[in-house]
Amino acid sequence: MSDSMERFIDEVREIVRVGGTEEEVTAKVAERLKGMLDDPGLLSDDQLMVKEGGFTLNQIHIEPGGSFSIGAGIWDVGQCTPVHDHGTWGVIGILRGTEKEESFHRKGPREMTGRVKITPSGSRLATAGDVFTCCTTDRDVHRVTCASNEPVVGIHVYGGDLAKIPRLKYDPDTGEVAPFQTGWDYAKVSA
Ligand SMILES: [Fe+2]
Repeated sequence: MSDSMERFIDEVREIVRVGGTEEEVTAKVAERLKGMLDDPGLLSDDQLMVKEGGFTLNQIHIEPGGSFSIGAGIWDVGQCTPVHDHGTWGVIGILRGTEKEESFHRKGPREMTGRVKITPSGSRLATAGDVFTCCTTDRDVHRVTCASNEPVVGIHVYGGDLAKIPRLKYDPDTGEVAPFQTGWDYAKVSA
């Protein structure tokens, strides 16, 4: 774990301890994340490992008690996630490459079965140095694509242990929801 990542973990811990609205917490986390993206030693080689055949989310830190988690997300050229949610807030900072972020508006409450109407609500490109709030509990549905000719690498911070939060995929045509669970890749690298 790099010194700068250790410091960042301490800073996020303090931000989460102080608390506030999700908008306030994500704004503070984004500000701290923005200040460290140009550190070339931020991630270790292990944290940058890529698994074959799918997008990778390497565990960097799970806060004891599960109040937040940090991972390195690596999407290879051309890879695209399903439309999905997180069940919590999230902040992403891009280290390398370009990520296309498509947001969707969900009409109605978050139900774990059935169908719900989702409509596109905007898209943007995020590139190295960009930091953004990918989600808050009430604006939580998106799809992510690697939009560069190199893998896109980002630091992801979530308001819980993403592997323990029940999550949903959405069929963008029918609105059908399907529960899924995130696994951390290369979790063993987290000390
Ligand atoms: Fe996501």
